[in-house]
Amino acid sequence: MALQLGDIVPDFEAATTQGTINFHDWIGEGWAILFSHPKDFTPVCTTELGEVARLRGDFATRNTKVIGLSVDSVDNHVEWEKDIAETQGQVVNFPMIGDPDATIANLFGMIHPNASTTATVRSVFVIDHQRRLRLTLTYPASTGRNFKEILRVLDSLQLTDKYMVSTPVNWKDGDDVVISPALSDEEATAKFPQGYAKLKPYLRVTPQPNK
Ligand code: BEZ
Repeated sequence: MALQLGDIVPDFEAATTQGTINFHDWIGEGWAILFSHPKDFTPVCTTELGEVARLRGDFATRNTKVIGLSVDSVDNHVEWEKDIAETQGQVVNFPMIGDPDATIANLFGMIHPNASTTATVRSVFVIDHQRRLRLTLTYPASTGRNFKEILRVLDSLQLTDKYMVSTPVNWKDGDDVVISPALSDEEATAKFPQGYAKLKPYLRVTPQPNK
């Protein structure tokens, strides 16, 4: 069965551009993002990897490591990284898993045979510090991802883990949030000293608690 939200993600050992890793050990105490791209030396992927490298500091402030994968060899990744540095102005500063026999791609369901029987689709797995899967995204080969959206989801997940809130449509860090329906009005008053607006009994809006 496909991996589902809340599952502990599979562990594996793999060769990467930064040496061999054991995935669960590599995750360590923080959060992790595992993402796949269809093929080395392809245009959209080249731009995506440059952007992920550019956002390194943004992932670090969210205590999140990033690791890439495709069904190419580590040697291919290393060669391609030269092109990424040249064309994107960014040195690839995160490990890239070499998975030429697609073992890890199959473990995570990154190959969708009706899209391609050989190449991985653009998958994203956001994994928390307990190694639980918290978000999956699947994009086709022709559409580059928006990694700022992935940062936004990390902000939401890390905020909603801490406070009994959810984040509404188009929310971004600093915007108002909604209070969990599991809290009574009395509990909400005690928990959210900045107060809240009660638009409906199930729709109570409050400033972001950690701002
Ligand atoms: C790309 O990265 O541009 C790409 C990769 C595989 C198929 C189509 C496009």
